[in-house]
Amino acid sequence: MNHLIRCRELSKESVEAILQMALDFKRGTVEVPLFFGQVPQVSFVFLENSTRTKLSFEAAALRLGIQCIDFEADKSSLAKGESVLDSFRCLEAMGVDAAIVRWKDEQLEELSESLGIKLISAGEGTSSHPTQALLDYMTWKESVSDLRGKNLLIVGDIAHSRVASSHFEMAEIMGVNISLVGPEHWMPVDHLDKKVDLDEGLQNADLVMMLRVQNERHERSVHTEDYNYEYGLNKQRLELLKDDALIFHPGPFNLDVEITQDVLDDPRTRIWEQVKNGVFTRMAILTKILGGKLES
Ligand code: CP
Repeated sequence: MNHLIRCRELSKESVEAILQMALDFKRGTVEVPLFFGQVPQVSFVFLENSTRTKLSFEAAALRLGIQCIDFEADKSSLAKGESVLDSFRCLEAMGVDAAIVRWKDEQLEELSESLGIKLISAGEGTSSHPTQALLDYMTWKESVSDLRGKNLLIVGDIAHSRVASSHFEMAEIMGVNISLVGPEHWMPVDHLDKKVDLDEGLQNADLVMMLRVQNERHERSVHTEDYNYEYGLNKQRLELLKDDALIFHPGPFNLDVEITQDVLDDPRTRIWEQVKNGVFTRMAILTKILGGKLES
C-alpha cells in the first residue's frame, strides 16, 4: 500500500489484513512493528477541523514510535498565500515519509502521482472518509466475524456524509447490504433504490449507523424535536432493534437530534468503542503504508 485515498482502491484481502492487524494490536497479540532504516516521520495536514481522526492518528503514530510533525494549517504560510501544493513540496523536501491529510480527494489523487510522500486521506468534505469506514468495520468485526450478507442501515444526512460515501464502497468490497433512511432532500441520488421506512429498517438491521445532522452544510438548521421524532433513534425505537444489533455513530453527535441519552446508555451502542478502535485501525494503516514488519 502506497497511499490510502478511497476505500474502493482496496481489495477484500487488503481490507481483511488491515482489520486483522488492528484487532491484533487491540488484543496485544502482536508487538509494535519494526521500521528498518530511519524512524519514519509523518505530517498532519488538516485543512478542516477534526478531533477524533487527527488525535487518533497521532496516538497511533506515537504508539508505533513514529515521529509526528503537525503542519498547523492556520499558523502556516498558507496564510501568506502559499499554495497547498507548494506546502506539500516543502514536506517532501524535508524528507517526510507520509502525510495524513484532510483535503480534497481529487487533489490528493493528483498529488499522489507526482509527490514522493505517501498520502493517507483523513476524510474530506462530503466526499469520503476511508479510515472511518475501516474502523467501523473493525468494530463490527469484534462482534461478528463474517459480515457477508449482513444488513447495515444508515440513517440521516446521507447526501452530505463522507462516512456514508466510504461505506457504500466498503459494502461492495465486503458483501454487506445497505439500506437508507432520511429526509428526501438528504438522500443520495445514486442510491434511491436503497431507501426504506425507518421502523422496517430498524427491525432488519444488524448494524444501525446514525449520522450527524451537519448544520454547517445546510442553509437552515434543523428543528431538533421534529428531527428526533421523524428520524432520530430514541427510547421507543430502540425496542424495534434486534437484541444482537449494534448502534454506531461516527461522531461528533448532536444529542437529542439524531440520538438521545437512552441510545448512549444502550448496551448495543459502540460509539466510544469506535473512537477507541480508531487508534488500532490507524496503527494498522500506518504500519501497512510505512512498511513496518511485525515480529512473528
Ligand atoms: N468521525 C470523525 O471524523 O470525527 P472528527 O471530525 O472529529 O475527526
